[in-house]
Amino acid sequence: MKYMTDKEAIMKAIHFKNLKGELTVPGDKSISHRSVMLGALAKGTTEVTGFLQGADCLSSISCFQKMGVEIENNKETNVVHIHGNGLHGLKAPSSVLDVGNSGTTTRLMSGILAAQPFSSTIDGDASIRKRPMGRIMTPLREMGADFQSLQTEQCAPFTISGGHLHGIHYYSPVASAQVKSAILLAGLYAEGNTSVTEPYLSRNHTELMLKAFGAEIKSDGTTASVFPVSELTAQHISVPGDISSAAYFIVAGLVTPHSEITIRNVGINPTRDGILTVCENMGANVRLSNIKEDTGELVADITVSTSSLHGCTIEGDIIPKLIDEIPIIAVMAAFAEGTTIIKDAQELKVKESNRIDVMVKNLSSMGVEIEGTDDGMIIHGGRPLHGTSIDTRSDHRIAMSFAIAGGLTEGDTEIADAECVNISYPDFYTDLQQLMK
Ligand code: S3P
Repeated sequence: MKYMTDKEAIMKAIHFKNLKGELTVPGDKSISHRSVMLGALAKGTTEVTGFLQGADCLSSISCFQKMGVEIENNKETNVVHIHGNGLHGLKAPSSVLDVGNSGTTTRLMSGILAAQPFSSTIDGDASIRKRPMGRIMTPLREMGADFQSLQTEQCAPFTISGGHLHGIHYYSPVASAQVKSAILLAGLYAEGNTSVTEPYLSRNHTELMLKAFGAEIKSDGTTASVFPVSELTAQHISVPGDISSAAYFIVAGLVTPHSEITIRNVGINPTRDGILTVCENMGANVRLSNIKEDTGELVADITVSTSSLHGCTIEGDIIPKLIDEIPIIAVMAAFAEGTTIIKDAQELKVKESNRIDVMVKNLSSMGVEIEGTDDGMIIHGGRPLHGTSIDTRSDHRIAMSFAIAGGLTEGDTEIADAECVNISYPDFYTDLQQLMK
């Protein structure tokens, strides 16, 4: 049984009978990015195990290599060594910093570049060029950096002229860990204290890792503050499995008849575990075991089995805790009895694709009764799905969501540009096939 990829990279989803077994998913994308960046700014060698070899994290590595940081990446073992030159050790890059498809590289690295005594230019792919960068330019300008958009205002490509920064207290209009992290990273170099208050708490990996590297950082509700630091110290970082990647197998195990799947060593940081709460609210059989802390992050094994699910409402402060999982949660809702309402998720429109639009379009074409709203979607679940052609818009999370939905449709589902999963989960199709044996 094989996924078929033809010359146009169209893949036919395999129909699932049942899914059984266990797997580990690749390392957390957010933590992998941060390990490269903090490792590059620390003095000494940071060793990272379980690093995600997705295209996004490789973009972070290549950008910091361009700034003179020696980084060895063993793609067989997923162990990365970053030989940091210290907080003031970056060199001006001799060419444009290419971030590929990675919003995290763009925004977090901008925070660091805002404080450097040189100018640098960031550019990326067609999707990156459309994503809003005003959200980091505004606070970083307020701290003293200069940004020049080279084509479209508030978008990449842009040039950053770094310099002497001063601390600010920023009230972010969006709950975004990328915005918060850009400001906190700039704050390491600023004069005085820097803090960010967000409407809801977003993922806190930057705060946890900065603390581990020796920065003075405080969190109080939805406010995080950092104090200038003279040096960061190299660390050992063990990256847990990415809950955003585990999410496809969580949902697959719940909605496929006669299935049971265990996903080992998944990060369950409370700022990322919204999908587990939603599963519980929908009546899913989900069990956590071997819960432990590793390098400041909570990890667990997650076991799921076939469940009869019912719809629920997903809104408010849980949204940042599951923002990347909404496409696969929408698939889960299509298999649940009753109505699921997703609100307060307007951020979906500015991800790698407009994920409200693309989910509504593709699920509708599978026969799901779904409507898009300004800040989410309403899904009436429980009807059989039929096969169709999926327009992924080259968005990795859309391709993986429909590889799961397509396994359970009547008739064939074809997924265009299926290899875009390389962004966050290069072995996704192989791992899924392992569960079909
Ligand atoms: C991320 C934060 C989130 C998330 C993205 C990764 C991070 O983006 O969607 O995939 O690593 O900080 P926003 O900060 O834009 O919400």
